[in-house]
Amino acid sequence: MEEKLIEQINELVEKLYFERKNKVEFIPGKTRIRFAGDIFDEKEMKARVKSVLGEWITLGEHDLKFRSEFSKFIGVKHILLTNSGSSANLLAISALCAKTFPKRLVKGDEVITPACTFPTTLNPILFNNLVPVFMDVDLGTYNINAKNIEAAISDKTKAIFIPHTLGNPNEMDIILEVCKKHDLILIEDNCDALDSRYDGQLTGTFGLMATSSFYPAHHMSMGEGGAVYTNDYALWRLLLSLRNWGRACYCDLNEKNPNGACNNRFNYKINGVPYDHKYMYSNIGFNLKPLDLQPAVGLEQLKKLPYFTKKRKENFKLMFEIFKKYSDYFILPKSLPKADPSWFSFPLTLKTDVGFSREEFTGFLENNLIETRLLFGGNILNHPAYVDIEHRIAEPLVNSDKIFKDTFFIGVYPGIEQPQLDYIERTVEKFFQTKNISLKK
Ligand SMILES: Cc1ncc(COP(=O)(O)O)c(C=O)c1O
Repeated sequence: MEEKLIEQINELVEKLYFERKNKVEFIPGKTRIRFAGDIFDEKEMKARVKSVLGEWITLGEHDLKFRSEFSKFIGVKHILLTNSGSSANLLAISALCAKTFPKRLVKGDEVITPACTFPTTLNPILFNNLVPVFMDVDLGTYNINAKNIEAAISDKTKAIFIPHTLGNPNEMDIILEVCKKHDLILIEDNCDALDSRYDGQLTGTFGLMATSSFYPAHHMSMGEGGAVYTNDYALWRLLLSLRNWGRACYCDLNEKNPNGACNNRFNYKINGVPYDHKYMYSNIGFNLKPLDLQPAVGLEQLKKLPYFTKKRKENFKLMFEIFKKYSDYFILPKSLPKADPSWFSFPLTLKTDVGFSREEFTGFLENNLIETRLLFGGNILNHPAYVDIEHRIAEPLVNSDKIFKDTFFIGVYPGIEQPQLDYIERTVEKFFQTKNISLKK
């Protein structure tokens, strides 16, 4: 009976999906072109519903399956799921500061990171009383100039925490060399860059740890969600503990053995007092767990990731074709010779004295229902939250300030198809006509 009911619900969910899908039609100038969004079909909808209809909605069987599949895809052994990419970043940096971490970072230690950044790449450094050392980024790649890292290092510098900005891989061979030479820990914020590669190797596999976000704007979606991954099992156990209230116990959440995964749960002692291992705390932790429906959806999304990547790359190329005729006005995105980005979006920076402002251009696109976004914080130090933080500036943040003023991006996500691209092309042409700007030959 129960199975029959679930089957009927599944059929209804599928029907609902196709009912909605059939109504979706792109009408130029009437339908909004989003900069990003999750792409799913009836399979994700069924996975969502099935998961909440189960008796266990807390992280459980799909966690194990997803971690195993994601580990095979990314080629990193140990995966930990979180409720967001921001939480994954918080865990990664907090792990470096935990008392059980062998090379523990302490108050005042420095972490090199770009000034042009997303806030929750920076915030974990601040929350842990570490000092961010800000580097500028290059225009076009929007990543730090790896050749300048050595000059940014002081004897307090212990780690580098870098995002592969908008999916564009950093210069990993130089970064690895510097880390090795100066004994620095490397952590990659891979939230915008899933399935990007540098020299054939996936981003997120170069550092001690890396993080992903599964928010809908990213390369695959769980609605909300994130992951932190590492090849170091002891470090994974530390991350697990920090995610799960700081407890010493490492049972999966649906562990069936009453004596726990250690099979020794009731034989631990604290100060001579017998103490259930489940309630023994070895770290000062958080609770940053997702629900089981998130990896349930993630499993379906992971199957679609090769298609998503292909589409992002195609859309990026087509967008480049549209904008290359405007290269007198915009700095076009660029990547390093060894980089193979799966772009998060298509970033553009206004050149100097082009006769119009960023807001005029993005306003025109927005009024014509083409969504635009800014490159996160630009120079994040300009924002009210950060004006009085303890920090060090490694080099003049000239480009980060230019990005703050003159950079924006539009989408390349798989929801953008040829009719949308044609409309974007026509709208950009219209802007230049309206402004009476004839293109230089
Ligand atoms: C580089 C980077 N890191 C971290 C995050 C945070 O991810 P989440 O939104 O899942 O918290 C984002 C979000 O867009 C991001 O772009």
